[in-house]
Amino acid sequence: MTMDARQSAPATLRNREPILQVLKTVLPTEGTVLEVASGTGEHGVFFAPHFPQLQWIPSDPNPDARASIAAWQKFQSGDNLHPPLALDVCERPWPLETEPFDTVDLAQFPVSAIVNINMIHISPWEACRELLAGANRLLPSGGILYLYGPYKENNQHTAPSNEAFDQSLQTRNPQWGIRNLEDVIELANTQNLQFVKKVSMPANNLSVIFQKK
Ligand SMILES: C[S@@+](CC[C@H](N)C(=O)[O-])C[C@H]1O[C@@H](n2cnc3c(N)ncnc32)[C@H](O)[C@@H]1O
Repeated sequence: MTMDARQSAPATLRNREPILQVLKTVLPTEGTVLEVASGTGEHGVFFAPHFPQLQWIPSDPNPDARASIAAWQKFQSGDNLHPPLALDVCERPWPLETEPFDTVDLAQFPVSAIVNINMIHISPWEACRELLAGANRLLPSGGILYLYGPYKENNQHTAPSNEAFDQSLQTRNPQWGIRNLEDVIELANTQNLQFVKKVSMPANNLSVIFQKK
């Protein structure tokens, strides 16, 4: 137990290194990464020092999550990791579309990538739709959207553990659930986001990469 607001999600310790290896191959060489749904903040603290050429802005709609993100940042010495933004993908417009950001000059460092880990199955389908719409609004041509999580493929679960997880998600909230990859790709296409590739990740997860047309 910590004596501050830092929260810890055990999965982040397991998935952060494999995710980092994929991010190294897909993130742009300059600009700002907007991390949507940062949760505890452990990912941003871990990733940002590996990308000193990029500015990293975490975000989450949950105030407790933002307190955790800010608390983790006290343990992060680099200057490219910024304070968390209050961003709910379902609320238009997103803050960065309308307001200057305190610690990043977005004219100098425009948002060139959006990273979203483990959100679209733990939120209603509307959140996936609004994430893709927001990425369309915010990213320049060539910008990257990186998604990570479990998926169905061709409407089939890819592992019994994913099927059990899907059932537990839907028990918690009938609007939650593991998404079908082809549905996400189809929706992305309507938002000018071209599917680039999927990468198999540990524990039956996928990295899914899109590029703004
Ligand atoms: C399972 S946690 C994942 C957190 C972190 N990315 C990770 O992998 O540890 C899901 C996160 O999605 C966020 N979330 C849920 N609905 C959202 C929405 N509409 N807009 C933005 N974030 C949302 C929650 O607040 C929560 O922090």
